[in-house]
Amino acid sequence: MSTTTAARPDPAAASSDVVGEAARRRTFAVISHPDAGKSTLTEALALHARVIGQAGAVHGKAGRRGTVSDWMDMERTRGISITSAALQFAHRDTVVNLLDTPGHADFSEDTYRVLTAVDAAVMLVDAAKGLEAQTMKLFAVCRHRGIPVVTVVNKWDRPGRDALALMDEVAERTGLTPTPLTWPVGIAGDFRGVLDRRDGGYRRYTRTAGGATVAPEEHVSAAEAAAREPEAWARALEEVDLLTATAGEHDQELFLSGVTTPVLFASAVSNFGVGALLDVLVDLAPAPAGRPDADGAVRPVDAPFSGFVFKVQSGMDAAHRDRLAYVRICSGVFERGMVVTHAASGRPFTTKYAQHVFGRERESIDVAYPGDVVGLVNASALHVGDTLYAGPPVAFPPLTTFAPEHFAVARSVETAKHKQFRRGIAQLESEGVVQVLRSDRRGDAAPVFAVVGPMQFEVAAHRMAHEFGAPVHLEPLPYGLAMRTDEASVAGITASSGTEVLRRSDGELLALFTTKWVARVVREGKPHLTLEPLVAAQLG
Ligand code: G4P
Repeated sequence: MSTTTAARPDPAAASSDVVGEAARRRTFAVISHPDAGKSTLTEALALHARVIGQAGAVHGKAGRRGTVSDWMDMERTRGISITSAALQFAHRDTVVNLLDTPGHADFSEDTYRVLTAVDAAVMLVDAAKGLEAQTMKLFAVCRHRGIPVVTVVNKWDRPGRDALALMDEVAERTGLTPTPLTWPVGIAGDFRGVLDRRDGGYRRYTRTAGGATVAPEEHVSAAEAAAREPEAWARALEEVDLLTATAGEHDQELFLSGVTTPVLFASAVSNFGVGALLDVLVDLAPAPAGRPDADGAVRPVDAPFSGFVFKVQSGMDAAHRDRLAYVRICSGVFERGMVVTHAASGRPFTTKYAQHVFGRERESIDVAYPGDVVGLVNASALHVGDTLYAGPPVAFPPLTTFAPEHFAVARSVETAKHKQFRRGIAQLESEGVVQVLRSDRRGDAAPVFAVVGPMQFEVAAHRMAHEFGAPVHLEPLPYGLAMRTDEASVAGITASSGTEVLRRSDGELLALFTTKWVARVVREGKPHLTLEPLVAAQLG
């Protein structure tokens, strides 16, 4: 955009501008188990930030208006959301980027990868269900990356667990010390409001019809709260006293270093607690900071433009057959049309078509700053993990690949189509849709697809047939656990039944086991073998 270039002739001014713009950005994702209320919370956040007029407009589920992401037939028929992008809105003087983590029981590696592009996470917990399986897996990725986590206990308007018991569960299962910022007044199902531990006051909860407008929160003094809700208020005060046993007070450094997690109580469906969450993100969540490159040197936010691709998506629009690469900006100013360098190939890349994408809604981006996400259109040369930069060269480390848990042999249904078959597989692999494993024994015509969630198989099969014209037959393999190994250990591992060793395209040797138990027997029987866990695998 010419105006931005013209407005910034002085490099020193541009640099302080970038620092200021980065400082007022918050980039986060919500991690939760399906049904905990992530879509509802997203709507409520957008509603609070006045991005959209009424809740419902960003929801991807069937039956609600304005679905955002039905780009695939599969997705449409199932009424689920498997795309992901970023929603950007302003709160106070801060620009908030909410990266969508596609949520479904069979969620995929995409969801994990989104967490490589955020600076904080909101862990959304259903008050009646506590910490569920997918939440724990996603939390493991946050812990691995050292991302600070804010916990939101949702659905307090419905019967659920005891608040103190939930704090115990958070402490025990995540190892984080919960530091509740608010505490519920009224048990789950009888939500009167919250005691704000920061000022000791009462935020009274007001229901609105269907939660479709911003719920007014009444701020009431402690004395008045005690007069209005004598029993519920007294109980809340008692519980807060008891908190000292398992929970603590907020400490910004401990939060940022992943030792504690601030906790809020909310009802996303009625928009209660949502404004408080936005305030917490603005006040406590970290702004984008310099990112270490592949050699460990930090590229500061005010260095010239750099960013990395954390997601690639093809075939979003059947009419256009475009390929979108989502780039998280790490440093500098992004201006649409600028020519950047693709670190992997050393080639120039023109960013003529840069968009904000959230589901079906797209708009051009003219300028963006560290923490923002830019969708680059027709970016066929870009792969997941690739770095783009201007000025001094930089390459960020490759994105972590996650421990696959499901495996299937892929065979071309039509043998004459082996070229399309090979091309399709190479493409899916480069996009990170599936990991591809091979061995001499299985041969090139029968690679093994390895995935985190079984839905990735469906996406891969669908795209092989419709995009590459090479329908595949997928034959599931009985393995459920993969570990990193080395050449010297192969014979020792495969001597046991229920095992196989395959090579991933990045050269890594993966030992597959039918069950954790088989893996344990092999490890304990032959402790000299190399068997290391992969990231974000089974948390136990
Ligand atoms: P997800 O994206 O995490 O999968 O969850 P989603 O927002 O779709 O919410 C799952 C269900 O939980 C929805 O009900 C939603 O209305 C409900 N829900 C979300 N937040 C709250 C809350 O704070 N309180 C209560 N009581 N319910 C909440 P549904 O019946 O499955 O769908 P719908 O008919 O409401 O669309």
